Amino acid sequence: MADNIIPSFKAADLVIQLTSTPKIKPEVSTFGTIFTDHMLTIEWSAAEGWRAPLIKPFGNISLHPACSSLHYGVQLFEGLKAYRGDDNRLRLFRPMLNMKRMSKSAKRACLPAFDQSELLECIRRLVEIDQDWVPHSDSAGLYIRPTFISTEPSLGVKKPGHALLYVILCQAGAYFNNEAEALSLWADPKYTRAWIGGTGDCKIGGNYGCSLLAQYEAVDYGCQQVLWLYGDDHQITEAGTMNIFLHWVNEDGEEELATPPLDGIILPGVTRQSILELTRTWGEFKVTERYLTMSQLCSALRQQRVREMFGSGTACMICPIGHIVYQGKTPGTPAGRSHSAWRRR
Ligand SMILES: Cc1ncc(COP(=O)(O)O)c(C=O)c1O
Repeated sequence: MADNIIPSFKAADLVIQLTSTPKIKPEVSTFGTIFTDHMLTIEWSAAEGWRAPLIKPFGNISLHPACSSLHYGVQLFEGLKAYRGDDNRLRLFRPMLNMKRMSKSAKRACLPAFDQSELLECIRRLVEIDQDWVPHSDSAGLYIRPTFISTEPSLGVKKPGHALLYVILCQAGAYFNNEAEALSLWADPKYTRAWIGGTGDCKIGGNYGCSLLAQYEAVDYGCQQVLWLYGDDHQITEAGTMNIFLHWVNEDGEEELATPPLDGIILPGVTRQSILELTRTWGEFKVTERYLTMSQLCSALRQQRVREMFGSGTACMICPIGHIVYQGKTPGTPAGRSHSAWRRR
Protein backbone atom coordinates (compact mmCIF):
# COMPACT_ATOMS: atom_id res chain seq x y z
CA MET A 1 0.00 0.00 0.00
CA ALA A 2 1.44 3.45 -0.83
CA ASP A 3 2.31 5.65 2.15
CA ASN A 4 -0.29 8.27 1.34
CA ILE A 5 -3.22 5.88 1.67
CA ILE A 6 -2.10 4.24 4.92
CA PRO A 7 -4.61 5.04 7.69
CA SER A 8 -2.49 7.30 9.86
CA PHE A 9 -2.49 10.04 12.44
CA LYS A 10 -2.13 13.54 10.98
CA ALA A 11 0.24 16.26 12.14
CA ALA A 12 -2.60 18.74 11.51
CA ASP A 13 -4.50 17.13 14.43
CA LEU A 14 -1.59 17.65 16.84
CA VAL A 15 -2.65 18.69 20.34
CA ILE A 16 -0.03 20.64 22.27
CA GLN A 17 0.13 20.90 26.06
CA LEU A 18 3.13 22.95 27.14
CA THR A 19 4.85 22.42 30.48
CA SER A 20 4.39 25.06 33.14
CA THR A 21 7.65 24.00 34.84
CA PRO A 22 10.46 24.00 32.24
CA LYS A 23 13.69 22.42 33.48
CA ILE A 24 16.96 24.23 33.96
CA LYS A 25 19.02 23.12 30.97
CA PRO A 26 22.30 21.47 31.87
CA GLU A 27 25.50 22.45 30.03
CA VAL A 28 25.78 19.22 28.03
CA SER A 29 24.66 16.20 29.99
CA THR A 30 25.84 12.59 29.79
CA PHE A 31 24.16 10.98 26.80
CA GLY A 32 20.68 9.61 27.38
CA THR A 33 20.16 10.70 30.97
CA ILE A 34 18.47 14.09 30.88
CA PHE A 35 15.53 14.62 28.58
CA THR A 36 13.95 17.79 27.26
CA ASP A 37 10.73 19.35 28.52
CA HIS A 38 8.30 17.66 26.14
CA MET A 39 7.54 14.37 24.44
CA LEU A 40 5.32 13.26 21.59
CA THR A 41 2.87 10.42 22.14
CA ILE A 42 0.50 8.81 19.65
CA GLU A 43 -1.79 5.96 20.68
CA TRP A 44 -3.19 3.29 18.39
CA SER A 45 -5.77 0.54 18.83
CA ALA A 46 -7.05 -2.03 16.36
CA ALA A 47 -10.62 -0.99 17.20
CA GLU A 48 -10.23 2.78 16.84
CA GLY A 49 -7.09 3.25 14.75
CA TRP A 50 -4.70 6.14 15.42
CA ARG A 51 -5.63 8.85 17.91
CA ALA A 52 -4.55 12.46 17.51
CA PRO A 53 -0.83 13.05 18.18
CA LEU A 54 -0.09 14.80 21.47
CA ILE A 55 2.91 16.86 22.54
CA LYS A 56 2.91 17.04 26.33
CA PRO A 57 5.29 17.57 29.24
CA PHE A 58 7.94 14.83 29.46
CA GLY A 59 6.96 12.19 32.00
CA ASN A 60 6.64 8.51 32.85
CA ILE A 61 4.29 6.25 30.95
CA SER A 62 2.05 3.72 32.59
CA LEU A 63 1.93 0.14 31.24
CA HIS A 64 -0.26 -2.86 31.97
CA PRO A 65 1.89 -5.59 33.64
CA ALA A 66 0.95 -8.06 30.86
CA CYS A 67 1.97 -5.60 28.13
CA SER A 68 3.53 -7.57 25.25
CA SER A 69 6.46 -5.18 24.70
CA LEU A 70 7.65 -6.17 28.18
CA HIS A 71 7.06 -9.91 27.78
CA TYR A 72 7.84 -10.61 24.13
CA GLY A 73 9.83 -7.57 23.05
CA VAL A 74 7.20 -6.33 20.59
CA GLN A 75 8.79 -2.93 20.09
CA LEU A 76 11.31 -0.94 18.04
CA PHE A 77 13.16 2.35 18.13
CA GLU A 78 15.06 4.83 16.00
CA GLY A 79 17.89 7.30 16.56
CA LEU A 80 18.61 10.51 14.67
CA LYS A 81 19.95 13.97 15.44
CA ALA A 82 19.08 17.62 15.03
CA TYR A 83 21.97 20.08 14.70
CA ARG A 84 22.20 23.83 15.03
CA GLY A 85 24.02 25.38 12.08
CA ASP A 86 26.32 28.41 12.04
CA ASP A 87 23.27 30.31 10.80
CA ASN A 88 21.47 29.28 14.04
CA ARG A 89 18.92 27.25 12.04
CA LEU A 90 18.09 23.72 13.14
CA ARG A 91 18.43 20.81 10.73
CA LEU A 92 17.62 17.12 11.06
CA PHE A 93 20.10 14.80 9.36
CA ARG A 94 18.30 12.84 6.59
CA PRO A 95 15.26 12.09 8.82
CA MET A 96 13.18 10.45 6.10
CA LEU A 97 15.68 7.58 6.03
CA ASN A 98 14.95 6.98 9.71
CA MET A 99 11.20 7.19 9.08
CA LYS A 100 11.56 4.62 6.32
CA ARG A 101 13.64 2.28 8.50
CA MET A 102 11.13 2.71 11.33
CA SER A 103 8.28 1.68 9.04
CA LYS A 104 10.23 -1.41 8.02
CA SER A 105 10.89 -2.32 11.66
CA ALA A 106 7.17 -1.78 12.44
CA LYS A 107 6.17 -4.20 9.70
CA ARG A 108 8.63 -6.82 11.03
CA ALA A 109 7.34 -6.36 14.61
CA CYS A 110 3.66 -6.54 13.53
CA LEU A 111 3.09 -3.00 14.78
CA PRO A 112 0.69 -0.80 12.77
CA ALA A 113 1.75 1.24 9.75
CA PHE A 114 1.79 5.03 9.79
CA ASP A 115 2.44 7.84 7.34
CA GLN A 116 6.17 8.58 7.52
CA SER A 117 5.81 12.26 6.50
CA GLU A 118 3.14 12.85 9.13
CA LEU A 119 5.41 11.44 11.85
CA LEU A 120 8.31 13.55 10.64
CA GLU A 121 6.16 16.68 10.80
CA CYS A 122 5.13 15.82 14.40
CA ILE A 123 8.82 15.34 15.30
CA ARG A 124 9.68 18.64 13.63
CA ARG A 125 7.08 20.38 15.82
CA LEU A 126 8.45 18.68 18.96
CA VAL A 127 12.02 19.78 18.16
CA GLU A 128 10.75 23.28 17.43
CA ILE A 129 9.06 23.45 20.85
CA ASP A 130 12.22 22.24 22.63
CA GLN A 131 14.61 24.06 20.29
CA ASP A 132 16.49 25.78 23.14
CA TRP A 133 17.84 22.34 24.05
CA VAL A 134 19.74 22.00 20.76
CA PRO A 135 23.37 22.77 21.69
CA HIS A 136 25.14 25.79 20.17
CA SER A 137 27.96 23.62 18.91
CA ASP A 138 29.24 22.17 15.65
CA SER A 139 29.89 18.78 17.25
CA ALA A 140 27.04 18.30 19.75
CA GLY A 141 23.39 17.89 18.78
CA LEU A 142 19.94 16.92 19.97
CA TYR A 143 19.34 13.18 19.87
CA ILE A 144 15.85 12.17 18.81
CA ARG A 145 14.59 8.77 19.96
CA PRO A 146 11.34 7.66 18.30
CA THR A 147 10.06 4.52 20.04
CA PHE A 148 7.15 2.27 19.13
CA ILE A 149 5.88 -0.31 21.62
CA SER A 150 3.04 -2.75 21.85
CA THR A 151 0.78 -1.86 24.77
CA GLU A 152 -1.35 -4.98 24.27
CA PRO A 153 -2.63 -5.63 27.82
CA SER A 154 -2.81 -9.43 27.64
CA LEU A 155 -0.48 -12.42 27.56
CA GLY A 156 0.00 -14.54 24.44
CA VAL A 157 2.31 -14.14 21.44
CA LYS A 158 0.01 -12.41 18.97
CA LYS A 159 -0.37 -9.26 16.91
CA PRO A 160 -0.91 -6.35 19.31
CA GLY A 161 -4.32 -4.70 19.44
CA HIS A 162 -2.90 -1.65 21.23
CA ALA A 163 0.32 0.29 20.62
CA LEU A 164 2.04 3.52 21.60
CA LEU A 165 4.40 5.50 19.42
CA TYR A 166 6.38 8.10 21.34
CA VAL A 167 9.36 10.36 20.79
CA ILE A 168 11.75 11.70 23.42
CA LEU A 169 14.73 14.04 23.03
CA CYS A 170 18.03 14.42 24.84
CA GLN A 171 21.24 16.30 24.28
CA ALA A 172 24.09 14.40 22.68
CA GLY A 173 27.46 15.93 23.45
CA ALA A 174 30.54 15.63 21.26
CA TYR A 175 31.38 11.95 21.02
CA PHE A 176 35.13 12.58 21.00
CA ASN A 177 36.79 15.23 23.13
CA ASN A 178 39.71 15.95 20.82
CA GLU A 179 41.35 13.57 18.42
CA ALA A 180 39.42 10.35 18.06
CA GLU A 181 40.63 7.49 20.20
CA ALA A 182 40.89 4.40 18.06
CA LEU A 183 38.46 1.68 19.13
CA SER A 184 39.60 -1.83 20.03
CA LEU A 185 37.42 -4.73 18.88
CA TRP A 186 37.02 -8.31 20.09
CA ALA A 187 36.17 -10.72 17.26
CA ASP A 188 34.96 -14.15 18.31
CA PRO A 189 32.51 -16.42 16.47
CA LYS A 190 31.09 -17.52 19.83
CA TYR A 191 28.31 -14.93 19.68
CA THR A 192 26.16 -13.95 16.69
CA ARG A 193 24.41 -10.58 16.50
CA ALA A 194 22.06 -11.40 13.65
CA TRP A 195 21.30 -14.16 11.17
CA ILE A 196 19.60 -14.63 7.81
CA GLY A 197 15.85 -14.53 8.35
CA GLY A 198 16.25 -12.77 11.72
CA THR A 199 15.77 -9.12 12.68
CA GLY A 200 19.34 -7.77 12.32
CA ASP A 201 18.25 -5.34 9.60
CA CYS A 202 15.59 -3.79 11.87
CA LYS A 203 16.10 -1.54 14.87
CA ILE A 204 14.38 -3.81 17.34
CA GLY A 205 15.32 -3.83 21.05
CA GLY A 206 15.91 -7.58 21.20
CA ASN A 207 18.92 -7.20 18.88
CA TYR A 208 20.59 -5.03 21.50
CA GLY A 209 19.64 -6.64 24.82
CA CYS A 210 21.03 -9.97 23.68
CA SER A 211 24.34 -8.37 22.62
CA LEU A 212 25.20 -7.18 26.14
CA LEU A 213 26.90 -10.33 27.39
CA ALA A 214 29.27 -10.36 24.42
CA GLN A 215 29.99 -6.66 24.96
CA TYR A 216 31.08 -7.35 28.56
CA GLU A 217 33.16 -10.34 27.45
CA ALA A 218 34.92 -8.04 24.97
CA VAL A 219 35.80 -5.80 27.91
CA ASP A 220 37.20 -8.83 29.79
CA TYR A 221 39.50 -9.36 26.79
CA GLY A 222 40.68 -5.76 27.05
CA CYS A 223 38.57 -4.49 24.12
CA GLN A 224 35.92 -1.80 23.95
CA GLN A 225 33.44 -3.33 21.50
CA VAL A 226 32.53 -6.53 19.69
CA LEU A 227 33.38 -7.10 16.05
CA TRP A 228 30.39 -9.22 15.07
CA LEU A 229 31.21 -12.19 12.85
CA TYR A 230 28.86 -14.40 10.88
CA GLY A 231 29.06 -17.85 9.33
CA ASP A 232 31.74 -20.52 9.08
CA ASP A 233 34.02 -18.19 7.14
CA HIS A 234 33.81 -15.56 9.91
CA GLN A 235 32.39 -12.75 7.81
CA ILE A 236 32.82 -9.29 9.29
CA THR A 237 29.37 -7.74 9.77
CA GLU A 238 29.20 -4.84 12.24
CA ALA A 239 31.26 -3.25 15.03
CA GLY A 240 29.32 -2.80 18.29
CA THR A 241 26.29 -0.81 17.19
CA MET A 242 27.95 0.59 14.09
CA ASN A 243 28.34 -0.38 10.47
CA ILE A 244 31.91 -1.17 9.50
CA PHE A 245 34.12 0.11 6.67
CA LEU A 246 37.49 -1.12 5.43
CA HIS A 247 39.66 1.26 3.41
CA TRP A 248 42.37 -0.96 1.96
CA VAL A 249 44.28 -2.16 -1.03
CA ASN A 250 42.27 -5.24 -1.96
CA GLU A 251 43.45 -8.67 -3.18
CA ASP A 252 43.60 -7.31 -6.76
CA GLY A 253 45.82 -4.38 -5.79
CA GLU A 254 42.96 -1.83 -6.06
CA GLU A 255 42.37 0.92 -3.50
CA GLU A 256 38.90 0.20 -2.19
CA LEU A 257 36.43 1.34 0.46
CA ALA A 258 34.40 -1.73 1.32
CA THR A 259 31.48 -2.44 3.65
CA PRO A 260 29.36 -5.60 3.98
CA PRO A 261 26.22 -5.73 1.78
CA LEU A 262 22.67 -5.33 3.12
CA ASP A 263 21.76 -9.01 2.99
CA GLY A 264 19.41 -9.01 5.99
CA ILE A 265 21.93 -9.24 8.84
CA ILE A 266 23.28 -5.69 8.60
CA LEU A 267 21.41 -2.67 9.95
CA PRO A 268 20.97 -0.28 6.98
CA GLY A 269 22.68 2.68 8.65
CA VAL A 270 21.87 6.21 7.55
CA THR A 271 25.53 7.15 8.07
CA ARG A 272 26.60 4.06 6.08
CA GLN A 273 24.37 5.08 3.18
CA SER A 274 25.65 8.66 3.34
CA ILE A 275 29.30 7.54 3.30
CA LEU A 276 28.67 5.27 0.31
CA GLU A 277 26.84 8.00 -1.60
CA LEU A 278 29.44 10.65 -0.80
CA THR A 279 32.54 8.59 -1.57
CA ARG A 280 31.00 7.37 -4.85
CA THR A 281 30.77 11.01 -5.97
CA TRP A 282 34.48 11.53 -5.13
CA GLY A 283 35.60 8.91 -7.65
CA GLU A 284 38.90 8.60 -5.72
CA PHE A 285 38.78 4.83 -5.20
CA LYS A 286 36.55 1.84 -5.73
CA VAL A 287 33.54 1.84 -3.37
CA THR A 288 32.06 -1.58 -2.83
CA GLU A 289 29.39 -3.40 -0.83
CA ARG A 290 30.94 -6.85 -0.52
CA TYR A 291 31.52 -9.71 1.88
CA LEU A 292 34.72 -9.43 3.93
CA THR A 293 36.07 -12.31 6.00
CA MET A 294 38.47 -12.35 8.94
CA SER A 295 40.95 -14.35 6.88
CA GLN A 296 40.98 -11.65 4.15
CA LEU A 297 41.35 -8.95 6.80
CA CYS A 298 44.15 -10.78 8.64
CA SER A 299 46.14 -11.26 5.39
CA ALA A 300 45.65 -7.59 4.52
CA LEU A 301 46.75 -6.48 8.01
CA ARG A 302 49.86 -8.71 7.85
CA GLN A 303 50.70 -7.33 4.41
CA GLN A 304 50.02 -3.76 5.56
CA ARG A 305 47.34 -3.26 2.93
CA VAL A 306 44.83 -1.78 5.38
CA ARG A 307 44.80 2.03 5.30
CA GLU A 308 42.04 2.47 7.82
CA MET A 309 39.03 0.76 9.36
CA PHE A 310 36.16 2.62 10.93
CA GLY A 311 32.69 2.19 12.32
CA SER A 312 29.85 4.52 11.27
CA GLY A 313 26.70 5.55 13.09
CA THR A 314 24.60 8.49 14.26
CA ALA A 315 26.32 8.60 17.67
CA CYS A 316 29.92 9.17 16.53
CA MET A 317 29.50 9.52 12.72
CA ILE A 318 32.96 8.01 12.07
CA CYS A 319 34.76 5.99 14.72
CA PRO A 320 38.30 4.83 13.87
CA ILE A 321 39.25 1.24 14.67
CA GLY A 322 42.64 0.61 16.23
CA HIS A 323 43.29 -3.01 16.96
CA ILE A 324 41.35 -6.24 16.78
CA VAL A 325 41.70 -9.28 19.03
CA TYR A 326 40.81 -12.40 17.03
CA GLN A 327 41.21 -15.92 18.36
CA GLY A 328 43.42 -14.60 21.15
CA LYS A 329 45.78 -12.74 18.79
CA THR A 330 46.11 -9.22 17.40
CA PRO A 331 46.58 -9.74 13.66
CA GLY A 332 48.00 -6.23 13.10
CA THR A 333 46.78 -2.67 13.14
CA PRO A 334 45.54 -0.56 10.24
CA ALA A 335 48.29 1.66 8.79
CA GLY A 336 46.70 5.06 9.42
CA ARG A 337 46.48 4.41 13.13
CA SER A 338 46.16 7.99 14.33
CA HIS A 339 42.98 7.72 12.43
CA SER A 340 41.41 10.95 12.06
CA ALA A 341 41.65 11.15 8.32
CA TRP A 342 38.12 9.94 7.73
CA ARG A 343 36.59 12.02 10.48
CA ARG A 344 38.23 15.17 9.14
CA ARG A 345 36.96 14.61 5.58
C1 LIG B 1 23.46 -2.34 14.90
C2 LIG B 1 23.66 -0.97 14.32
N1 LIG B 1 24.37 -0.85 13.19
C3 LIG B 1 24.57 0.35 12.61
C4 LIG B 1 24.07 1.51 13.16
C5 LIG B 1 24.30 2.82 12.49
O1 LIG B 1 23.11 3.31 11.93
P1 LIG B 1 22.89 4.86 11.73
O2 LIG B 1 24.00 5.33 10.83
O3 LIG B 1 21.57 4.97 11.08
O4 LIG B 1 22.95 5.48 13.07
C6 LIG B 1 23.34 1.42 14.35
C7 LIG B 1 22.80 2.64 14.98
O5 LIG B 1 21.66 2.90 14.86
C8 LIG B 1 23.11 0.16 14.94
O6 LIG B 1 22.39 0.05 16.06
